[in-house]
Amino acid sequence: MKMEINTIDATIRVANEGEHREYSLYSKEAFEALSHLWLKVGWNEKYPYTFSWMGRPLIQLPEDVMRIQEVIYRLKPDVIIETGVAHGGSLILYASLCKAMEKGRVIGVDIEIRKHNRQAIEAHELNSFITLIEGSSTDAAIVAKVASLVKPAETVLVILDSNHSKQHVAAELAAYSPLVTIGSYIVATDGSMEFLHDVPRAGENWQQDNPAAAAREFAAEHPSFAIEQPAWPFNESTLNQNITHWPSAWLKRCS
Ligand SMILES: C[S@@+](CC[C@H](N)C(=O)[O-])C[C@H]1O[C@@H](n2cnc3c(N)ncnc32)[C@H](O)[C@@H]1O
Repeated sequence: MKMEINTIDATIRVANEGEHREYSLYSKEAFEALSHLWLKVGWNEKYPYTFSWMGRPLIQLPEDVMRIQEVIYRLKPDVIIETGVAHGGSLILYASLCKAMEKGRVIGVDIEIRKHNRQAIEAHELNSFITLIEGSSTDAAIVAKVASLVKPAETVLVILDSNHSKQHVAAELAAYSPLVTIGSYIVATDGSMEFLHDVPRAGENWQQDNPAAAAREFAAEHPSFAIEQPAWPFNESTLNQNITHWPSAWLKRCS
């Protein structure tokens, strides 16, 4: 892809796979093209690795944090399950929303919860909202343990943010999707690997081997789920696409 930005003429030219387009620099199309490139440059510079929530690092783009906050506030789930804990910042984020809404609790699964992370999460003022489970998210015993913590008729949101290989995410989708309640989502995060494949810090097979590919296959095979970006509750712009590291991530349970 070749992009030419001309701030004097206020135009942007994008050439991609033989297709040439020119937009006004101050347009929706220019914003989307620049944002797409900004995501790639920012990811290479580890921009999503620069934030924390109430004292704990979370490895997310602020835009994705805003969007999941909107969904959690709308759904007010009884249980939020996340695979991939790392430093615990995302669990603390969900727990803070549960506390503010006076509803919900959080289950976090990680193959390795490092001692200092566990200690920091357990010492946090929101720890009472969080259950930590150590083990592989696709291990049948771990899946059964998570399921045993969900009571019948509880509403459930699931966020997958552990091993991002297509195979692992496909196995997580199969294991955790039965817990997702109608109208809620299972979110296969970090499908951006698909378009990050050509940045210097990317892995070799990312174009094919990524969560978005797993999510699309899952949706094609499971008509009760559809890939659907949640509607924005507030929007006074002409924009309508998430600026996100979670493309094709939001699998909504429709039936
Ligand atoms: C991207 S980090 C999670 C970031 C966290 N959700 C946040 O927003 O800050 C990925 C985590 O997944 C964990 N992980 C890797 N493979 C796993 C597996 N098979 N089961 C569960 N967790 C796994 C890693 O140990 C790591 O802590």
